[in-house]
Amino acid sequence: MAVETVPGAGAGGPRSRLIVDCDPGLDDAAALVLAHHFADLVAITTVGGNAPLSEVTTNALVTAQVFGIDAEVHPGAARPLVAEPRHAAEIHGASGFEGATVPPLTRTASEVGAVEVLIETIRAVEGLWLVPMGPLTNVALALRQAPDLARRLAGISFMGGSAGAGNHGPVVEFNIMVDPEAAAVVLGSGARILMAGLDLTRQFVVDDGLADSLRAIANPGGAMLADLVVGYLDRVEAVRGARGGGLHDPCAVLAVTHPGLVAHTRRQVGVELTGTLTRGMTVVDQRLPPGMDDPDGNVWHGHTLDHGAALDALLTAVAACG
Ligand code: RIB
Ligand code: CA
Repeated sequence: MAVETVPGAGAGGPRSRLIVDCDPGLDDAAALVLAHHFADLVAITTVGGNAPLSEVTTNALVTAQVFGIDAEVHPGAARPLVAEPRHAAEIHGASGFEGATVPPLTRTASEVGAVEVLIETIRAVEGLWLVPMGPLTNVALALRQAPDLARRLAGISFMGGSAGAGNHGPVVEFNIMVDPEAAAVVLGSGARILMAGLDLTRQFVVDDGLADSLRAIANPGGAMLADLVVGYLDRVEAVRGARGGGLHDPCAVLAVTHPGLVAHTRRQVGVELTGTLTRGMTVVDQRLPPGMDDPDGNVWHGHTLDHGAALDALLTAVAACG
């Protein structure tokens, strides 16, 4: 059952032109496969997040190599704008790809850095969607250096934040927690922004059934993602006591490539920068009734996912590219 998106959300549809900014991680890798199969993936940029910059860049190169993704990988920021670097080794392992058996790496990263390629490409390519799925440091640096990017982009579809419970704290989500100042720059940029927060992305369930479905595809990419899912579940169970989670980052891609699978409502969204308990919280103003858009809203808040169709899209992409 496709969910009706709000027309104003204005996402791209099939074969949209994307740049993905990521910190692989399992869910980033799955998102890259979706972007490669269903869109025109123009470039990949990496940012320190789940693991340090060198590791996530290696993981992006491994993903590109295994899935035949020809987009170049451009390393970006190793640390947030202001805060001290933080990683998620307890969830993704020290390498960010713990649990995966990866082939000898033949791909190498570009000499052109993330911020440079973001500015150059967004100015050169019409109708581009920027899909960040790690801390927003690269995006904020590019917007600060070139504010015109906000109106040149078709939009920014980011994974981060939450309108409800957090994951790395009661009310904070990892990507925004790591670099709240960067998130504030992006949310205030004036770009068309789609938000895939945890309240949406937890609907894309990660469980042992997902690992089984990926392994049943019987190609190297499916096996690698299945191994990553099992490793992720093992660590989440050890750390949080419950064996489950959300496949977060693919939702930010699907919101652009499959607009009928994600329902949005326009809201005011801010980020807390000074709270003792709440620094890094995304504050989503939901006082208007469900489905009633805030005409002054700065963000299209994703709230409902067609999980069955999203899972079908992922398995289709992995079968085709893996
Ligand atoms: O909180 C989930 C987000 O943090 C995802 O993007 C995951 O990859 C990590 O970066
Ligand atoms: Ca990520």
